Formats: sequence, structure tokens, C-alpha cells
Amino acid sequence: MTGGPNRNNEIADASLAERGQVRIAWADGQMPVLRSIRERFERERPLEGLRIAACLHVTSETANLLRTLIAGGAEAQLCASNPLTTQDDVAAALVRHHGVGVHAVRGESADAYAAHVVALASRVPHITLDDGADLLSVLHAGDEAWRADLLGGTEETTTGLLRLRALQDEGLLRCPVLAVNESLAERTFNDRYGTGQSTLDGILRATNLLLAGRTVVVLGYGWTGKGVALRAQGAGASVIVCEVDPMRALEARMDGCEVMPALDAAQRGDVFITVTGGRDVLAREHFELMKDGAMLANAGHFDVEISVDQLAELASARRQVLPLVEQFEVGSRRLNLLAQGRVVNLAAAEGHPAAVMDMSFANQALCIEHLSREGAALAARVLPVPPEIDHEVARLKLASLGVKIDELTAAQRDYLTSWRS
Ligand SMILES: NC(=O)c1ccc[n+]([C@@H]2O[C@H](COP(=O)([O-])OP(=O)(O)OC[C@H]3O[C@@H](n4cnc5c(N)ncnc54)[C@H](O)[C@@H]3O)[C@@H](O)[C@H]2O)c1
Repeated sequence: MTGGPNRNNEIADASLAERGQVRIAWADGQMPVLRSIRERFERERPLEGLRIAACLHVTSETANLLRTLIAGGAEAQLCASNPLTTQDDVAAALVRHHGVGVHAVRGESADAYAAHVVALASRVPHITLDDGADLLSVLHAGDEAWRADLLGGTEETTTGLLRLRALQDEGLLRCPVLAVNESLAERTFNDRYGTGQSTLDGILRATNLLLAGRTVVVLGYGWTGKGVALRAQGAGASVIVCEVDPMRALEARMDGCEVMPALDAAQRGDVFITVTGGRDVLAREHFELMKDGAMLANAGHFDVEISVDQLAELASARRQVLPLVEQFEVGSRRLNLLAQGRVVNLAAAEGHPAAVMDMSFANQALCIEHLSREGAALAARVLPVPPEIDHEVARLKLASLGVKIDELTAAQRDYLTSWRS
């Protein structure tokens, strides 16, 4: 296939297409669940004739999601949900080899970014995919005609869901939106295993540290913090957890971690990882107590969890000692800040591995199929992903791993669903 359905593609450089194609194929090798859905979609064509618009990170994993939707019979358009993560070679390959209309250039200006979202909205999509709700926001703010055929959308992030629920609360949401971000598959695999591994990957790439024998302090024991703690334990570190929620603190204790206030942990830790979603979780009072050589990393969404300003105020000198490590002199001690306190698995590593995005995007593909069938009948609200979709993703992943499980017998099912027995 040559060229997307929209001849007005806006990409950086069409000549990068072959390099992008290799990258897409590599990711595809790690995405067996999505591949099996693509094979079924090719046979059944459940999305025949649908216009799908996606505002997502333009990466090789996203490319495989769009290939799957096209295999199902859809016409697909893509723009970036963050101009800094666009892979220009992937964008070029999507246009040349996969028939996707792409409006995304790495590093594009805010105006160009906004124009690209509008370009997608103005093509009157049936179904949208969002990572931050920009596309659905523009569709709701813009021309009414853009929403004429809207069956529904999916949303991939917490931030996007906040915006869409605000739209819903004002009575303005015009279509059902499936909260992919909150599905069990996403929580379990994306947050726990994806962020857990890639956070340590970022720290190791930045520092080349040996984790075995070290004390790692994990601040925040939510979905993501649990994954970080689990991986650190697996690498031979002793893990201390700091929490404000008694239930999660107890869970951490029973998972074999030490639990204590952050001021106590500050004196013990070799590596500190914030993953709370809050701010100033590590601040002046903690820095004042830390050991020489302590490493500070953040895996939370925003770069406010470690108070870099307070660290800078406290320090008599600061210098870049490695490309992603800045060292602050505090008295006679040196404290090392990784990736400027930005989200370390993206800033120092490659974010989630493709195998994790496989599960997320398999979930997305099945949600799109669900919306194509049921969207018109669903309430115009933010809705949970149907549990059958989570189960189907898990079933396909097990099949790809060659793992078989038991099934309930009819008698067992009766027993479990009847009050008489
Ligand atoms: N790096 C990534 O790829 C990635 C992936 C998923 C989520 N996140 C981000 O990680 C953060 C946490 O996400 P989550 O899904 O685990 O959230 P969560 O709500 O499940 O967990 C956060 C935990 O932090 C605890 N907490 C809050 N303030 C604290 C404080 N001052 N000290 C100690 N503990 C505190 C809360 O009690 C809670 O248990 C968010 O910012 C989220 O956006 C990052």
C-alpha cells in the first residue's frame, strides 16, 4: 500500500519509512496478543467502514495497534498525544506501508500540534482513541457536525479521565468513553510489571548501579510502587516502603518490606524512588539526613515528587557527573539526582516494554470492537472496560505463553452461582 487514505499527511520525512518499518516489525515480535486479534480481525472484519481517529504517542507499538484496526476494516487517522515522543520513522512507515493518515512531527510547535488534532476531529470519526483526552476535548469544543457519527472513544491515561469526567459532570459529554486506564489488565500489567521493570531499567541505565545488597526506599505503595518494590526485591535489594495509607502500608509489611516514615528511611536508603502522584515527597528535611552517595529517582507522573528547588537551595555546589545524573553537594555529602527528577522510566529508559503495551493495546482493540457493536446503545458517560475484555486479553496472553488453565465443570459453576447449595 502506498500513502494513507488522507493525501494531506503531515510527517517529518517520508524517506524514513523503511527504518520505521523495521522498528514496527520488531515491536510486533513482542506483541503476540495484539497479533492474534489482528489475525481474527482480518478474517471477521468487525470494523468495516468505520473512521477511527487516534491521538496517541506515535510509536512502533501504536503502529501495531493501528495495523490491527485497519485489518478489521477501519480507516485510521493518527496524530500525536505528545509531540516529543513521536517517532518520525514510524510515522513515515505508517503512511507508506499501512495506509494510516498521519499528522505528527516530532518536536512540532504547540500550534502545529493543535492543528493536527483539529485535522483529525474534522474528519468526523466514528470512534476515537485518546491518551490525555485532547481529541475528544476538541471534538466536544468544536463544530457540532464533527460529532455527527461519534459512537464512542477510549482513554488511556488518568489525566485524560479527569478531563472527561469533568466534561461529564457539566453534562456535556456526548458519547460513551471506555476507561482503558482503569481496567484490571492495565493496572496489573502496565503499572505493576511495566513501570516496575522500566523504572529500575532507567535507574540502572543512568547509573550502572548494582542493586543487590542495597537498600531501596520506595515512597508510595500503589499499583506502580508495588511493581517497583517487587522488582527491587528480585534484584537482591532490601526494600523499605513509606506510605500514608495504613492499608497499603500493612500490605507492604506483609509483602516482606520494612515500613517506616520517610524521615527514618532517609537515613537508611541508598536509592530513593518516589511514585506517589503527590508533591514534595522528598524535601529539605529528608535531604538533610541522607547518606553520602544516595540516588534520588522519581517514577511518578510529574517532576514535583522530589523537591529539586529545595535540594538546590541546600546544596553548596551542583555538577553533572553522568549524562542523566546531577550531583548536589550537601555539607560533606553528595546526593545524586537522576533525570532531573522527571519520570525516570521514560527519561532514562524506553518506558513500557512492547510486551506490556501488547496487553494495553489488545485491550484497546477489543474496546474499539465493543464500541463498534454497542456504542450507539451505551450511555454517554465514562464507563469501565467490560470484564469480558480483560479476561479475553489474559486468555490470549496465556495462550501466547503456552500456558493452559482449568475450567469450571458445569456442577462447579452451578454450585458457585446457586444460593440453594
Ligand atoms: N512511570 C510510569 O510509567 C507510570 C505508570 C503508571 C503510573 N505512574 C504514576 O505513578 C504515580 C502513582 O500511580 P499509582 O497508579 O501507583 O497510584 P496509586 O494511587 O495506586 O498509589 C499512590 C500511593 O502513594 C501513596 N502516597 C501518596 N502520597 C504519599 C506520600 N507523601 N508519602 C508516601 N506515600 C504517599 C498513596 O497512599 C498511594 O498508596 C502517579 O503519578 C501515576 O501517574 C507512572
